[in-house]
Amino acid sequence: MNIKNCINIEDLRMAAKKRAHKMVFDYIDGGSDDEVTLKRNSSAYDDYELMYRVLSGVDNPDMSTTLLGQKIDVPFILSPSAGNRLFHTDGERGPCIAAEKFGTVYSLATLSSLSIEEIGALTNGPKWFQLYVWKDRGLVKEMLDRAKAAGFTAMFLTVDLPIAGNRERDPKNGFTIPPKIGPKQMWEAMKAPWWSLDYLTKPQIRYANLSEETSAISLNDFVAEQLDASFSWDDAEWLLGEWNGPSILKGVVRSDDAIRAERTGFNAISISNHGGRQLDTSPAPISCLDPIRDAVSDKTELIVDGGIRRGTDVLKALAMGANAVSFARPYLYGLAAGGIDGAVRSVEIIHDAIKRDMILLGVQNISDIDESFINRLKP
Ligand code: LAC
Repeated sequence: MNIKNCINIEDLRMAAKKRAHKMVFDYIDGGSDDEVTLKRNSSAYDDYELMYRVLSGVDNPDMSTTLLGQKIDVPFILSPSAGNRLFHTDGERGPCIAAEKFGTVYSLATLSSLSIEEIGALTNGPKWFQLYVWKDRGLVKEMLDRAKAAGFTAMFLTVDLPIAGNRERDPKNGFTIPPKIGPKQMWEAMKAPWWSLDYLTKPQIRYANLSEETSAISLNDFVAEQLDASFSWDDAEWLLGEWNGPSILKGVVRSDDAIRAERTGFNAISISNHGGRQLDTSPAPISCLDPIRDAVSDKTELIVDGGIRRGTDVLKALAMGANAVSFARPYLYGLAAGGIDGAVRSVEIIHDAIKRDMILLGVQNISDIDESFINRLKP
């Protein structure tokens, strides 16, 4: 399907499914165990209704807001995601360019396939650096220094991946990074000729922020070998000292953890379950928003991530007290379907939807979107 004809995120998802190799599409699309959380992340938005206001005279709403002191043109940022080169040769360039185009923050993953320096220099848009904690603390410090030098302004610390979740689609597909092309992968490669041509004729996928090449290995083994599962609150405090700048703790679903994050010194909390890819049956982020908003002070900013596909999802989160939302799968579907153009299209779809839905809701500014617009169907 032509990217321009994709009118919603599901269209981009189907276009990605068509173009990408099965193991690649499943890596983006899949969740852990029975994918209960994956599905709930989106369907939980149906537990809330939007109480729109009539005759409010809004015809050109202002979508801009401020997050961690940074003015952004839209109430969303792009979540980090690993190894984008796997999905399309444009790799992380796709979402980074899309973020700049729509005036928002791009967050680069530790496990990116283009380096901190390359992405830092690519656009003038605001950027955050997502960190996984390596067993080698020297490497952690080195990455933070590199991110700072390359103009990344905030540290996005992800803490819901002490080990990788049980994503059963990946071993079934024989998925490794870089991919091993055996008979099964060959067969699937023939069904995805554009992806295969792209993959075979362009530079090999690698984790660009690491100096050593890694051999074809499953994500589970890589994470178990390299990342530090014993990382604790004390270590998080140490890390904040090392970074000494704006910080977000990503992967929180409980209010006691949110309170602890605030006390430890994080400026923002990303309410997230890693897109349903980690602990299955963990709650949908939107259902965690009420208790977490009540638990922390107003100065702690909240970003809701997971299952966002529509402008109305964004407005619901804002009405319930989120400062912004974030998403990755929508732009990954776009990237896998059509490189930079596809990533830009995905962000455009969500951007246009929010604008339309703000007019329908009857609000001129993001700060006007309050509690009064939400009807909770469940107590
Ligand atoms: C993932 C990790 C690497 O979800 O963030 O695949």
